[in-house]
Amino acid sequence: MPVTKVVDIAYARLAAPDLDLAEEFLTHFGLVRAARTKTALYMRGSDPAHHLHITELGEPRFIGLAYHAANEDELGKLAKTSGASDIETMDEPGAGKRVRLTDPHGFQIEVIHGIEALEPLPLAENAVNTAQARDRRLGTLTRLAAGPVAVKRLGHGVIVSTDLQKALAWYREMLGFIPSDEIFRDDERDVISSFNRVDRGETYVDHHVFFCMQGPKAGLNHLAFEVANFDAVMLGHEHMKSVGKIQTDLGRRPAYLWQSDFRLLGRSLGPRARAHDRQRPPQRLGRAASQPRRPRR
Ligand SMILES: [Fe+2]
Repeated sequence: MPVTKVVDIAYARLAAPDLDLAEEFLTHFGLVRAARTKTALYMRGSDPAHHLHITELGEPRFIGLAYHAANEDELGKLAKTSGASDIETMDEPGAGKRVRLTDPHGFQIEVIHGIEALEPLPLAENAVNTAQARDRRLGTLTRLAAGPVAVKRLGHGVIVSTDLQKALAWYREMLGFIPSDEIFRDDERDVISSFNRVDRGETYVDHHVFFCMQGPKAGLNHLAFEVANFDAVMLGHEHMKSVGKIQTDLGRRPAYLWQSDFRLLGRSLGPRARAHDRQRPPQRLGRAASQPRRPRR
């Protein structure tokens, strides 16, 4: 049995040397400022979560990811594990409680509970007719407005690990993740990347909140934020292009490198580091879903 089963991803925490530039990038990306202090920026989406993205003032780096605990008792279980912090009352906008853990790469993993919820913001959704539902949009034309496209929520975080098996064992043991899809090379035991979801029993959840891949250097590969639908993915992409944000090819989709990475491009982290990506609403799985493994093509 894992120590706890977290119920969702909450936010990512990074550091950057210029909070104005960070806010400018993230606003174009579709996030909205929830709070800003002298030392940190808190950006939210349209869902009630107080924030999805924290930028602390400092040298550019990925600090870690945060996940929601089911209740405060679960924090107590984590606080008893070796190397964990006590239960802390957060001295940050939104407040709440947390336990801090350190993952095998040295990244900070926060498990949180009780952060303030905000009023939801509007999330424009362009209704699209399909073969099965030809009358979703009746009597109005599609006229998509240019500009930043609202982000709904944080979907997943992707970490590159130098020891994938060790990383997966830690995340599954501490946070209760279960595999949704795994990609192997020649032999099923030679898994090279793994999609993991939270375990909420019979409740359907996103296909993955955590993707981990084997690589030469540990780090954040990307964060994926959910937007309303595929139109919003493309519209947001057009906006990012129009304001000159650097893009990178993340698999088959474009993603965007935020300001602190400009200085790092071509250096040690490479062009995929800490990309901010957008996704439409993902597949949803329950506990009983099969666990297919796919060979690498
Ligand atoms: Fe992704």
